[in-house]
Amino acid sequence: MALRRILYCGDPILSRKAGRIHEMDDGVVELLRDLRETMLEAGGLGLAAAQIGVPLAAVTVLRDPESDSVLKLINPRIVEQEGEQEGSESCLSLPTLRGVVIRPARVVVEALDLNGEVIRAEGEGLMARCLAHEVDHLDGRLFIDSVEPDSLCWLRPDESEEAGYRTEPTTVEEAREAFDRLRKQREGLT
Ligand code: NI
Repeated sequence: MALRRILYCGDPILSRKAGRIHEMDDGVVELLRDLRETMLEAGGLGLAAAQIGVPLAAVTVLRDPESDSVLKLINPRIVEQEGEQEGSESCLSLPTLRGVVIRPARVVVEALDLNGEVIRAEGEGLMARCLAHEVDHLDGRLFIDSVEPDSLCWLRPDESEEAGYRTEPTTVEEAREAFDRLRKQREGLT
């Protein structure tokens, strides 16, 4: 098992459509294992393969934080959705950014498991939000692409606040620029 580096918003892989997986070989087993481990280590609720630099249609979603129970979904797609919910969202590829996204209230996802069997994952509330967010990643969409622009904010550590942070409003453009800078710093170009 290996922890993988999570790519920042603006990396071309994150805006690409993920390729479907046709064969459940050792590479796919390892990919899902790494996704699971990297997601748990980072404290995320979901992680898509593109976020660790692999342009394939595979995601993990945290099912139960208590037991670290994780759904592993290959080629997932939404086959049913209903209603609407409004709520805050974040993403490991846009650390410390948060914003409101309208999502379906309930979704049903069909996917393959590691044996190539068709499985269904169903969720309401937060689980529906997570599933929709992860399926969006496979289409090259990040939450910043569908965020309610006025709701976008940074979470800044602040011990004088009860929550341990304060929010600082930002714009889509400003946030993208901040992650472009982070990416360049990481690549050692600046
Ligand atoms: Ni995400």
